[in-house]
Amino acid sequence: MTTPSTPRKGIVLAGGSGTRLHPMTSVISKQLLPVYDKPMVFYPLSVLMLAGIREVLVISTPRDLPLFRQLLGDGSRLGMRFAFAEQAAPRGIAEALVIADPFLAGAPSALVLGDNLFFGHGLVEMLLRADQRPKGASVFATRVKDPERFGVVSFDKDGRALSIEEKPKQPKSHFAVTGLYFYDAAAPGLARQLTPSARGELEITDLNRLYLDRGELAVMPFGRGIAWLDAGTPTALLQAAQFIQTIEENQQLKIACVEEIAWRQGWIDKTALTKLAESFGAGAYGQYLARLAREENPWQG
Ligand code: DAU
Repeated sequence: MTTPSTPRKGIVLAGGSGTRLHPMTSVISKQLLPVYDKPMVFYPLSVLMLAGIREVLVISTPRDLPLFRQLLGDGSRLGMRFAFAEQAAPRGIAEALVIADPFLAGAPSALVLGDNLFFGHGLVEMLLRADQRPKGASVFATRVKDPERFGVVSFDKDGRALSIEEKPKQPKSHFAVTGLYFYDAAAPGLARQLTPSARGELEITDLNRLYLDRGELAVMPFGRGIAWLDAGTPTALLQAAQFIQTIEENQQLKIACVEEIAWRQGWIDKTALTKLAESFGAGAYGQYLARLAREENPWQG
């Protein structure tokens, strides 16, 4: 297998109106709300980092973008590069690729929704496999109880994707397409050709269907070892927080700690990690980073 010659760049889409979480989101972006011990956006950002992606564009509303800039900075403290762009109005997930076109400058991309959380065994291997596909698009599917709320993919008996539909009234399967999409360099051009749907949005499902019709869509199903959580309602937000808390307390390891991932990826050294730990002060998050920085062998702790 060949790797794409230009390194893949990441996009975090963190806009939208967040109305289902009002009044929590009346004055702040949903993707900045906490999920247990860190802002929600850390979770999807960490997925891109685990895929080896070091250049990321964060897209949000004109109102919220300054806060993302303040939270994330230019990325240099993580050995990364962050760029920021506005989405003037929520005109659809596929619009992210049009907005990102100048940033991507011909590179392949991975787009993740700022409110999607992924966790589990074998996730990194799947991300790396998607990253290595030089052509086409890769998406991830997972079994859900309410497929009519999502993009739904159906398969033939050999596991090949047959159809992909957005929020179908009569879903052909129980497999939802998650909010993580790997695309080759053709995606921004294809996204530009889409026409808005009945709800006035450039649908990501329509873009994925273009790839399916070209025979270039890989749908990778998650096994039961991988959890996909969305934090789109108050109950889902609380459940996601409890899920993260349970695992972090049991393992004494953090999920989606971006400073830790940057260090384990070798993008920052121990001195930089120690500095980051100090910047968080005496709280548990800073202490955790300080503990990592003290460990002789990172795999021992
Ligand atoms: O979460 C996975 C699902 O995400 C997929 O299965 C669906 O195919 C896909 O359409 C999408 O469905 P949703 O109904 O969840 O999309 P929603 O409009 O809620 O947007 C998802 C996130 O993206 C949300 O946090 C807001 C953000 N967003 C959305 C739109 C339409 C933007 O930042 N800009 C936008 O224009």
